[in-house]
Amino acid sequence: MVQETQLTTSNLIFPLFVIAGERAKSEVDSMPGIYRYSIDNLLREVESCMNLGLRAFDLFPNIDDTLKDPLASESYREGSLYLRAIAEVKKHFPEACIITDVAMDPYSSDGHDGIVKNGEILNDETLEILGRMALAHAQAGADIIAPSDMMDGRIGYIRRILDANGHNQVSLMSYTAKYASAFYGPFRDALNSAPKHGDKKTYQMNPANQREALIEAELDALEGADFLMVKPALAYLDVVKLLKDHTQLPVAAYNVSGEYAMIKAAARNGWLDEQRATMEVLMSIRRAGATAILSYHAKEVLEKKWL
Ligand code: PBG
Repeated sequence: MVQETQLTTSNLIFPLFVIAGERAKSEVDSMPGIYRYSIDNLLREVESCMNLGLRAFDLFPNIDDTLKDPLASESYREGSLYLRAIAEVKKHFPEACIITDVAMDPYSSDGHDGIVKNGEILNDETLEILGRMALAHAQAGADIIAPSDMMDGRIGYIRRILDANGHNQVSLMSYTAKYASAFYGPFRDALNSAPKHGDKKTYQMNPANQREALIEAELDALEGADFLMVKPALAYLDVVKLLKDHTQLPVAAYNVSGEYAMIKAAARNGWLDEQRATMEVLMSIRRAGATAILSYHAKEVLEKKWL
């Protein structure tokens, strides 16, 4: 009766990595317990999560280097690994909520989220690619599209393309306040998607800025976002709270790869109580105001009945 915050299975979104091949399952070295799955195994993994009550999945592709190019053309190619994965999961589990990631980096030979020219990111030219990618995801069966690229104007651009093509039911979960963070390291290992040169500081946010998140939130809301996401979660709980207090849209937070890796590493060394630390972290994100929590801990928490 006096506990102020509740955390439930319906708050959780489980990120899943997809890899080419058959019967493939490879663990991410820096993320113990997290695997890249070929589509056949991905279906098994989704099924076992659904049996635990987990229904929302965010898919990310590991793309072979030979398929990468400066314009990320693999990202919207018919029959690509990612588009097949979306369609297969949706076909076998129509009641699953499929969230897809829109950004160039897994498919870009530059490893950036936008087109690179002379060392600079071309914001407006990138929108066209993001639009094609988002439309391809919607056509494959995505329920929610999550643009993680941080280009300016992409939410409105993608919304217009989806609506013009009859996908007005597909929602947009915007990475609204995505910081240029060191905590994405293990994720870039998982996808082999690290920038080949430079960094992402010209489009991801400066960790020193809080008020700027409100500008991003206002723009995203006006452009038609359905969710506002803060990422990473833990070093930015103040930003989660800020968006919760100053906006009307649901707030999501991404408990990212590096945050997961820290707990796993410490637990493996016997330096902290993994169950308590994990549940404290998830509850803190919920307490700060997020109702949607993307977390690599999601499945384990349910499997081990910690929740
Ligand atoms: C790429 C993307 C990243 C993550 C989600 N989408 C990495 C990045 O921006 O370099 C990170 C997720 C994580 O660390 O768990 N657009």
